Amino acid sequence: MSDLANRLNQLQTDALAALAAAANAGAVETLRASLFGRSGRITVLLRGLGAVDAGERPAMGKLANEVRSAVEAAITERLATLRAADAGARLADEALDMTAPGRQVRVGHLHPTMTVDRDFREIFHAFGFEIFEGPEIETDAMNFEALNIPPDHPSRDLWDTLYVAEPGVDPRQPAADGTILRTHTSPVQVRAMRALSPPIRVITPGRCFRYEAVDASHGFEFFQVEGLVVDRDTSLADLKGMLEEFARALFGDATKTRFRPGYYPFTEPSVAFDVSCLVCGGPGCAACGRSGWMTILGAGMVHPTVLRAGGIDPDEFQGYAFGMGLDRITLLRHGIPDLRLLMSADLRFLEQFPGGR
Ligand code: DAH
Repeated sequence: MSDLANRLNQLQTDALAALAAAANAGAVETLRASLFGRSGRITVLLRGLGAVDAGERPAMGKLANEVRSAVEAAITERLATLRAADAGARLADEALDMTAPGRQVRVGHLHPTMTVDRDFREIFHAFGFEIFEGPEIETDAMNFEALNIPPDHPSRDLWDTLYVAEPGVDPRQPAADGTILRTHTSPVQVRAMRALSPPIRVITPGRCFRYEAVDASHGFEFFQVEGLVVDRDTSLADLKGMLEEFARALFGDATKTRFRPGYYPFTEPSVAFDVSCLVCGGPGCAACGRSGWMTILGAGMVHPTVLRAGGIDPDEFQGYAFGMGLDRITLLRHGIPDLRLLMSADLRFLEQFPGGR
């Protein structure tokens, strides 16, 4: 056998041994370059074919091609084997133990007042009301004037309202532009009338603020929900039926209700709405002042002045409105004795009311 044939055979043996020893894909690539690169062993041998005698050249050419294909095939196969092993190792690294105990996730819950808020939203949603929220920072004009509250009305007293002061000015001097913290959600009635057109059915839940000495039953911030309906031929009978249904949905079917005359500047006529005592259910107890009843909200037919402030013609449309506090209902629902606990942000207290999600 010729010298060239020996060298080709030797090259194949060496290459296959080196491949078998290659530990990873990188080593195989290095080997490939040392064989097939510009001055690689196979490249050089193939170049030598030109010098072979013409008689021997076909046989040598055939052998050279066989060696090259055998080595190329071996390289492809070795790479496949190594890659499969790599993937196996990575899978083993990433293996999940499905039987390992999970890490506990602490899931929070709604504040008890917000659970009441959610219940209100759900009940009124079912009655066809939409949510319409207004700003906590209001103007004197919206909070009072648009609601037919004249300047000498007691609720405008400096001691009931938190006025926003000009920067650097004595905080007891109200801002010249009449900026205040809203004392109730009623101004949102006017905002809703200006933004929507009849028929309007909205509730306007939100936070309110008053200048109050804080004690077990008074807070300087609290939550209200206002309701407003504006339509043709809306009457006090509609208001009455709706509130009776609402009371039963919130407090249960056995709840008794009654209406009493009331007074609010923004409704005419105005009513107070009572439900049978949420603590004793009727016979009378300390919580209801022995009367068996609790007043939960004020309501009435929207005053024509308020409709006009909202851009609505009182000759064409009527409406009714109601407003109530969420905080006291929360206290009654859970038998909580002190309003200040609701604002305490104390987890020992809050974690006792996990019901709301
Ligand atoms: N805004 C009143 C308050 O804060 C509650 C209220 C009473 C709202 C009668 C109304 C209403 O919409 O018609 O005490």
